[in-house]
Amino acid sequence: MAESMKGLKRTHRCGELSAANAGETVTVMGWVQKQRNKGGIIFVDLRDRAGILQVIFEESDCGSEHFAKAEKLRSEFVIAVVGRVEKRAAAANENLATGEIEVRAKELRILSEAETPPFPIEADSKTKEELRLKYRYLDLRRPELQRNLMLRSQITTTIRKQLTEEGFLEIETPMLTKSTPEGARDYLVPSRVHPGNFYALPQSPQIFKQLLMCSGYDRYFQIARCFRDEDLRADRQPEFTQVDMELSFVDVDDVIDATEKMVERVCRDAIGLEITLPLPRMTWLEAMERFGSDKPDTRFGMELVNVSDIVKSCGFGVFTDAIENGGSVRGINVKGQAEMPRKKIDALTEFAKGYGAKGLAYLSVQPDGSYKSSFAKFMTEEELQALVVAMGGEKGDLLLFAADKNALVYSVLGALRIEVAKQLELIDNSKFNFLWITEFPLLEWSEDDNRYVAMHHPFTMPMDEDLPLLDSDPGKVRAKAYDIVLNGVELGGGSVRIFQPDVQEKMFEVLGFTKEAAYERFGFLINAFKYGVPPHAGLAIGLDRFVMLLVKADNIREVIAFPKVKDASCLMSEAPNVVDDVQLKDLQIKLDLSDTHD
Ligand code: AMO
Ligand code: AMP
Repeated sequence: MAESMKGLKRTHRCGELSAANAGETVTVMGWVQKQRNKGGIIFVDLRDRAGILQVIFEESDCGSEHFAKAEKLRSEFVIAVVGRVEKRAAAANENLATGEIEVRAKELRILSEAETPPFPIEADSKTKEELRLKYRYLDLRRPELQRNLMLRSQITTTIRKQLTEEGFLEIETPMLTKSTPEGARDYLVPSRVHPGNFYALPQSPQIFKQLLMCSGYDRYFQIARCFRDEDLRADRQPEFTQVDMELSFVDVDDVIDATEKMVERVCRDAIGLEITLPLPRMTWLEAMERFGSDKPDTRFGMELVNVSDIVKSCGFGVFTDAIENGGSVRGINVKGQAEMPRKKIDALTEFAKGYGAKGLAYLSVQPDGSYKSSFAKFMTEEELQALVVAMGGEKGDLLLFAADKNALVYSVLGALRIEVAKQLELIDNSKFNFLWITEFPLLEWSEDDNRYVAMHHPFTMPMDEDLPLLDSDPGKVRAKAYDIVLNGVELGGGSVRIFQPDVQEKMFEVLGFTKEAAYERFGFLINAFKYGVPPHAGLAIGLDRFVMLLVKADNIREVIAFPKVKDASCLMSEAPNVVDDVQLKDLQIKLDLSDTHD
């Protein structure tokens, strides 16, 4: 039977008590972690979000009625205890923050009983994630998730403090809105009042924050929920949170500066990490050339080397063909791995093929200086030697090469570099390597659409010196766009926005939008710009990713209270689900599921 709390008031959280409270009478409330009955004495580990506390029941202290209740306690019962804090008679428990003390109970109330949970509530759970997600409310009792969510709360508080102190205003923008330009698929919400019409949930507050700049709010931020219907990965959820900012009368450096200060303060407050400002910067081109990625993990080396010049007239057709077709040959040097078994090299080749490579050429420099290689027979001794020198190869090294179009070589070797480093455990997990990537290309050629698409979004400003190229060679135009990267993960990104109508018009033209199509989607922004628009720029940080990296979780789900799984469903609430015919009728929606397959 559940007892009432009447007359009791919690004085402390369990984990807040220490030797300094010895002698005090306290009232604590929480969940029973464990009850051990040793005959005349009962030990209870009592848990709340602050930690675990040992409570002792002896009939001589608490009387027979309370002792009898203590005998009935089982895991996850919710109880209130009044008792005296004492230094432990036995040796202190060094695993517990409260390990020096215990509470000798005088009174016990059972506030609620609990069935046996489907899995034990404990640190380092071995329980399968599906089961934990189904009972997420129980999973959330575990200390790791409690720590993660408490830290997340602390981080948002720090962000609010920092940005407010820097003159940013927190302003909310609508959730029921029109399609935004971030380029993923939208989540749509049907309108009852306007049958056949749909709202889109925002992929980001992009257009609204630019409008706020037009309205003179100068510096805006929002901890904004965003929705994107895209394939999920370890660092992607269909709904996620951005720390979204926009600033007026600024250029690239001002946004970078404001972001760095915020990131610095969060790192210090949340995990006591001191980072050095300014953070390093690298152009997009340098990142691609050196790391094959626009979000390079700089915690280890193994950089890409372009050996096209060395091999352009060698006898190996795979190499020379790639170069003749406008591509390149690049390699990575896997230090000390000349003895890597053929099977493992084959597995890496399969990995590379997964990224679109046609193959992976290898050359290992044996301890005696001889070569083992998939292509040595096509090259002269001098050519091989020049190649090894160019790669910084020494005896014992394994050199891996990809030959193809540049973009493909980058993505293959960029991914391979990370894979090899993971396999060989070359990544120092204690490092936090922040990096800005700047000067992104403005446009990307889309084979699917047979036209240019915006790499960031259509409002991104070209670099001043590249403006003339917008007419003559749009693919070469660099943008005033920047990403902040942490340990190989894109943490955030943004850009300076176009604010001149003629440049915006040109941009839409290059993107293949007719004037009508541009007005249809973004008309209110284009119109707003006619009435006085300040130069402005902004950025959004992925909050979930930031917290994930700071707590060293390997999945974003670990820092989100109620996350979704790979197929975008919620295992606990079972969303999405079917709805009543009445609801559909209200919306004038008829389902046609004839194309659905499992
Ligand atoms: P962008 O699309 O780069 O920029 O998004 C900004 C940051 O949001 C995070 N992010 C995600 N996190 C979790 N799950 C997802 N599905 C997901 N998608 C993105 C990333 C990313 O860097 N409006 C622009 C910003 C601007 O220009 O001001 C924007 O949304 O960490
Ligand atoms: P092949 O001539 O196709 O038998 O290939 C000889 C070697 O080159 C094999 O080790 C292939 O994996 C490798 N190879 C094939 N195509 C490429 C490519 N585009 N880039 C790098 N290596 C390749």
